[in-house]
Amino acid sequence: MGIKRLHEQFNRISKNIAYQRIEKREVKDIIHNHFSFWSEPDHVNRQAFLEVLNRIAPAPAVIIETGTSAWGTDSTRIWDSYIRRFGGSFHSVDIRKEASADLFGQLSKRTNLHVADSVDFLERNLDLNADVYFLDSWDLDLNDPIPSAEHGMREFHAIKGNLKRGVILFIDDTPSFDFLKTMTLPSAAQEFVDKYGSPPGKGAFVKAYVDEKIEHKVLHHNYSWVIQIL
Ligand SMILES: C[S@@+](CC[C@H](N)C(=O)[O-])C[C@H]1O[C@@H](n2cnc3c(N)ncnc32)[C@H](O)[C@@H]1O
Repeated sequence: MGIKRLHEQFNRISKNIAYQRIEKREVKDIIHNHFSFWSEPDHVNRQAFLEVLNRIAPAPAVIIETGTSAWGTDSTRIWDSYIRRFGGSFHSVDIRKEASADLFGQLSKRTNLHVADSVDFLERNLDLNADVYFLDSWDLDLNDPIPSAEHGMREFHAIKGNLKRGVILFIDDTPSFDFLKTMTLPSAAQEFVDKYGSPPGKGAFVKAYVDEKIEHKVLHHNYSWVIQIL
């Protein structure tokens, strides 16, 4: 590890020591503290996380995430805070080893970080039977939106058999049409809308499938898409 990375890691660990000292008794504390401390208070995903944690609290939960904390909401820390407080277990997978390395020494014993392709990981770990799946791996590139939507669909196919009543499916970067109006779309993204009749996104193909074939309730849809299986 180079000096710069070592210094950054030291800063993260020190910041985390301070963070863990803050009392987080309720979901609203977890959300408030996370978005003030690790993210931005008005982050576009704040409401979606609040919605999901409020729905599962105060029960222990099994949570699976694809795409460990990186250039996003720093989501791994939120799920970790939930199971620290309310119990359960949490697995997060990322194809880059740096994602888990950056979190080294900062998460609870109930959190398990894995380095693997997300689809392989999901296929091999069906027995985990998650209560919440948070899919946030292959980045959405508005100049080339299909690979991300296809990867999202492969992740969905891997877990489809586990989507029993009550399970929450939360896919990041899956904007609604209303949210899309706030975005400047490159031509490839507009072509996606014209061709598939839906905004581009990690969950674009999943949403099309689920809307047609799976009974569900929409818990939130803005920049991310969150549903509960009925
Ligand atoms: C948007 S970032 C995740 C952000 C994170 N959830 C957060 O809130 O900070 C996407 C992550 O997915 C990972 N990724 C990309 N393709 C993947 C794959 N096929 N399997 C697993 N992880 C992948 C990238 O390495 C990256 O760390």
